Amino acid sequence: MKRIPSVDEIRVLGVAGTIIFGIHRLTGPTQLKIGINRESAPDENRVAGTPDLASKLVTAGHEVVVEQNAGVKAGFPDEAFRDAGATICETMSEVAATANLVLHVGKPSEEELGSVREGTALAATLDARRDTQMIDGLAKAGVTAFAMDLVPRIARAQSMDVLSSQASIAGYKSALMAADSLSRFFPMMMTAAGTIPPARVLILGAGVAGLQAIATAKRLGADVYAFDVRAAAGEQVESLGARFIAPLDSDDAEAAGGYARAQTEDENERQRQFLAEHVVRADAVITTAAIPGRRAPLLINTSTIEKMRPGSVVIDLAAETGGNVEATVAGQDVVLNGVVVKGPVNVPSLMPYHASVTYARNLESLLSLIVGDDLGLMLDFEDEVVDAMCVTHGGEVRGHTIGR
Ligand code: NAI
Repeated sequence: MKRIPSVDEIRVLGVAGTIIFGIHRLTGPTQLKIGINRESAPDENRVAGTPDLASKLVTAGHEVVVEQNAGVKAGFPDEAFRDAGATICETMSEVAATANLVLHVGKPSEEELGSVREGTALAATLDARRDTQMIDGLAKAGVTAFAMDLVPRIARAQSMDVLSSQASIAGYKSALMAADSLSRFFPMMMTAAGTIPPARVLILGAGVAGLQAIATAKRLGADVYAFDVRAAAGEQVESLGARFIAPLDSDDAEAAGGYARAQTEDENERQRQFLAEHVVRADAVITTAAIPGRRAPLLINTSTIEKMRPGSVVIDLAAETGGNVEATVAGQDVVLNGVVVKGPVNVPSLMPYHASVTYARNLESLLSLIVGDDLGLMLDFEDEVVDAMCVTHGGEVRGHTIGR
């Protein structure tokens, strides 16, 4: 008969696996029961699994249980999951009682954490570097948790990289927000009423979101400028047809893993002064600068915003981590001298269909790494991707992955 092994059995299997192969087997040779819950955050429109993913999992031999209306806000009705072979559960606790692997976009709610069974596995975006309380709670609940936000930025892990898939959506959407909020055209227009010059758009931070914002603003016909502290970003910016701006005396601030290092306060101040003259000439500014696990760098002072032309717009994609703009208030629009500063939060959720499709594909790729041929969960901590993403296991926080 198919069954989930007890916690003690899991520990024994885990220890034996580690000793013999460095591999932890989490479930016995049995199919996984994979749960897809409705997200609990009120502003969350995405769903972790799509009917397409459900269908692939069912075809592979797994059972899939989906909480009622989990995908509705993203455009996936219960009927589509049923057609894919999944079972619809009325409540989250019903999913928790059945599933031994739960897929999530955001963090589980306190209620959900309370109802989860010891030994359950979870894959979700956990904000693992900052939300230590959540990670401690998951360890205490005996959950084996995979933080999708700790995916290593290496070629092999690209297909499971939710940071990239969701940042790309945020970047695209930020350019649309800027175009929509501006009282001017983005493209150059030659009309019977005269020629209208293109909007000047400045993008600060040219990582995944910034590059997508650049590409989208270019497609809309704007005149695009961009800045980043990593020198490598210059070539990428120019390959998209935008102009890269950088102070003459700037050092390359690329650190390990391709991320930017944090700037010193002196470097930050010089950067703000350099950027100010470009900001005041822009019709729209989109800021995306981030340092993993830290407050977003402050790039634009309020005094600079006040010098911009009335009707200009600033979209601060770093609003959730403190903002790149001094005037930003997360989740709100602030108007200063006729300039609108927007601090949108959870931007990928504003485009929930494709955000969910790409997130689910990232999960599919992760599952192909952690599900063994016997359809049980297999954890190979010798694998750098599994090692980096698995933050809690066997009641413990795997501290090295989140810098503890
Ligand atoms: P991120 O979200 O951490 O930061 C966004 C951008 O802000 C980065 O380009 C960063 O250099 C920039 N930034 C930081 N401080 C700044 C400042 N003071 N002023 C201006 N810009 C500042 O970065 P993201 O988008 O996640 O990408 C990080 C790196 O990882 C990039 O080099 C990217 O190419 C690389 N990457 C590699 C992947 C892979 O190989 N699997 C996948 C995705 C990204």
